[in-house]
Formats: sequence, structure tokens, C-alpha cells
Amino acid sequence: MGDPGRAYVHGYHEREEERLLDQAGTLVDLLHHDTRYPEGALVLEAGCGVGAQTVTLATNSPRARFLSVDISEASVAAARRRVADAGLVNVELRQADILAEPFPAATFDHVFVCFVLEHLAEPARALEALKRMLRPGGTITVIEGDHGTTTFHPDSATAHEAIDALVTLQARGGGDATIGRRLYPLLVDAGFAAVRVSPRMVYVDDSRPDLVQGFTRATFTAMIAGVRDEALEAGLLSAERFDQGIRDLERTAEGGGVFCYTFFKGTGEVAS
Ligand SMILES: C[S@@+](CC[C@H](N)C(=O)[O-])C[C@H]1O[C@@H](n2cnc3c(N)ncnc32)[C@H](O)[C@@H]1O
Repeated sequence: MGDPGRAYVHGYHEREEERLLDQAGTLVDLLHHDTRYPEGALVLEAGCGVGAQTVTLATNSPRARFLSVDISEASVAAARRRVADAGLVNVELRQADILAEPFPAATFDHVFVCFVLEHLAEPARALEALKRMLRPGGTITVIEGDHGTTTFHPDSATAHEAIDALVTLQARGGGDATIGRRLYPLLVDAGFAAVRVSPRMVYVDDSRPDLVQGFTRATFTAMIAGVRDEALEAGLLSAERFDQGIRDLERTAEGGGVFCYTFFKGTGEVAS
């Protein structure tokens, strides 16, 4: 199957690939420190994209086996190159649509999903499909963002308007850029047991130059800037206002600026 094109609000171009890698590199400890899979476990990574999380997952759990899939052939090819460059031998990559339940029931010991549900019109259906592919006693780990948690100094109504433009575009495409706050009910309603969700806040000020560059600039502001053409085409705000919003976001990455964003990480089990 080819790329789903506009269905994915951030697109599949090269700059987006770099952005996903910057994001993953910057957030490794915050998002991955408590995810380790045991020897021999078979893990489905659903929606692996260009492999930004795959390398961390497979490096942190070298004795587990990963089957990482994405609906985009091009992303799978990029992920395959990254995994090979990292010298990892415990990852297999395949093109697959998770909604089509491409593997038999109870195939996997664990499922890992990161930044995928926010793009789906039917996240509940995806979770139910993933649950059926998990064995009894298996676990799911889901990580999602929530753009509604964004706060910064200096504050700017214009910057919030630019962020809201992305939230609106994603909603029009069937997704939900504020899905993080819904992880708990989504996992419970899909029938997972022992559901736990923890907020993971990224706090950035200029005493943390890695995060200023890797998160505020190269991840978040780049993501908002990436929807400029679409936001203007949709008439959500004027070019002047959008560009001012981006400048105001950039200002939060300069001296005395502060930027905060919260991710949500949820886990659940399939009752045995
Ligand atoms: C924002 S990217 C996240 C990629 C990766 N998990 C990461 O954290 O960098 C979302 C990915 O989900 C994939 N995706 C969307 N719908 C899918 C589906 N039904 N089955 C498999 N992958 C899907 C997209 O192709 C895209 O690569």
C-alpha cells in the first residue's frame, strides 16, 4: 500500500523525518526510562514511522524481538536503514495497517504505540485491534502528546492561535492533537486491565540548551511551522498572524524564555 498522504497532518517529507528523530533523541529518558522488555519477548511496535523510537526500544531491550510496522512503505524503508545503521539485529520491519489486524490473535507478548493514536479517526478501534493481537497477560504501552498542555513565557495569544491551527487541521483530518488527556478512558474502554497513565512534562528554559534546541525549536516550533501552508489555505489565520505566532514561539527559546509541554504514557494488560 502507498503512503496515506494528507491523512497524516505532518506529512512524510524529509524535514518531518528529521523532526521525528530530533523529538525522539531529546525525549529518550523522559519517555523510555521505564520501558524494558524481557529476553525472548515478542513486541509489536505499531506505527513505527521512520524508526525514531525503534532504535531506542531495541537498544534498551536487546534480548527482546521487535516487529515494527507502519502503513507507509517509505517510512518502513527509512526505519529499516536506521535500524541497520544502528547495527540492531532484534528488529524486523514490515509495511502493515494496524487497523487491518495483520497478525493472528494472541501473537504478541507486548505492544508499543507512540504518537500514532492522535492521527487516527478511530483510536478506540485501533486499541481493540491491538488488544486482540496480544496474548492473555500481555501488555500495551501507549505514548501520546496533548497540544492543549502547552504553556510558555513570554505568553502570546498569537502563538496559541498558531498552535490551535494545527489542532484544528488535525481534527479536520479525523485526528486529535489533544488525545493525551483521553488515554486513560480509551485504554479502559478498549478492555485493558490495570491501566495506569503518567504525565511526562517537558520543562525547558535556557539552563537546558539541549532541550531548547531539540524540543522547543526543532520539535515543537518546527511542527507548528510545518502546517503554515495548510493553515493559510484553510483560512484559519492570516500569514502575518501565523508568522508572528511562530516568532513568539521562537522567543520562548531565547534568554529568559520558558516552554512546557506534557506527554502522557499509559500502560495496560490483557486479563489472563
Ligand atoms: C507521528 S508518526 C510516529 C512514528 C513513531 N512512532 C515515532 O514516535 O516517531 C505516526 C505514524 O503512524 C503511522 N500510521 C498511521 N496510521 C497507521 C495504521 N493504520 N497502521 C500503521 N501505521 C499507521 C503513520 O504512517 C506514521 O508513520
